[in-house]
Amino acid sequence: METISVFSDTESLSQAIADHIIEKAKQAVSIKECFSVVLAGGSTPKEPYRLLASKDYADQVDWSKVHIFWGDERCVPPNDSDSNYRMARETFINKLPIPTSNIYRIEGERKPSDAARYYQERLKEFFVGKPQFDLILLGMGEDGHTASLFPGTEALLNTKDWVTANYIEKISTWRITLTPQVINQAGNIIFIVSGEKKAETLYKVLQGEYRPDLYPSQLIKPTQGILNWYIDKLAAKQLNLK
Ligand code: 6PG
Repeated sequence: METISVFSDTESLSQAIADHIIEKAKQAVSIKECFSVVLAGGSTPKEPYRLLASKDYADQVDWSKVHIFWGDERCVPPNDSDSNYRMARETFINKLPIPTSNIYRIEGERKPSDAARYYQERLKEFFVGKPQFDLILLGMGEDGHTASLFPGTEALLNTKDWVTANYIEKISTWRITLTPQVINQAGNIIFIVSGEKKAETLYKVLQGEYRPDLYPSQLIKPTQGILNWYIDKLAAKQLNLK
């Protein structure tokens, strides 16, 4: 199942995302005393993350039961300004009582292949059997990438691993990313897309020809879960919404 929700501005988009995360966390914790969430990097999630640590949200969840993962990471140390871990730590993680043992950082400072293998080992320890995250947050780049699944890269075709090191020719850098098959096993996936610069790509991803080699976000199709697109009016400009 897939839904598209359009919001008039960044503030209402961010609040809706924070509300959704809290709702999923409360549901999962009440049912199984555990909530596994995969964070997106980049800039769009910053405001929703900040809201999670604000007084209107922070007290709604037993954070000791929340397990934090990342969908991808840049191959940099944890204090690097490009680190997705650092962004999440500074926007909300270090403001909430989340046990350190519940934080599953991708160790971007390692050799890429080692970082991918080590993170995959930790995921396999966490999940008995299939990697079924409760919630995965994803952003979308202007080129249609998501996580670190970039157009024309090897990771798009990786059906063997849960995590892989992916060389991105366009930006001459290595990234560590979950593979599409792992993302698609999540119970709930949220894409967060805002800004007019993404309008054309979002149209192509959602309503254009199926070309996942060019638009990897099209690979995201949950096998059994729900996919919610949370987008602002500017990013939705070219969509034909009924
Ligand atoms: C990353 C992200 C990446 C991001 C998109 C959108 O590591 O950069 O995981 O997939 O979500 O590039 O980024 P913005 O939110 O900054 O537009």
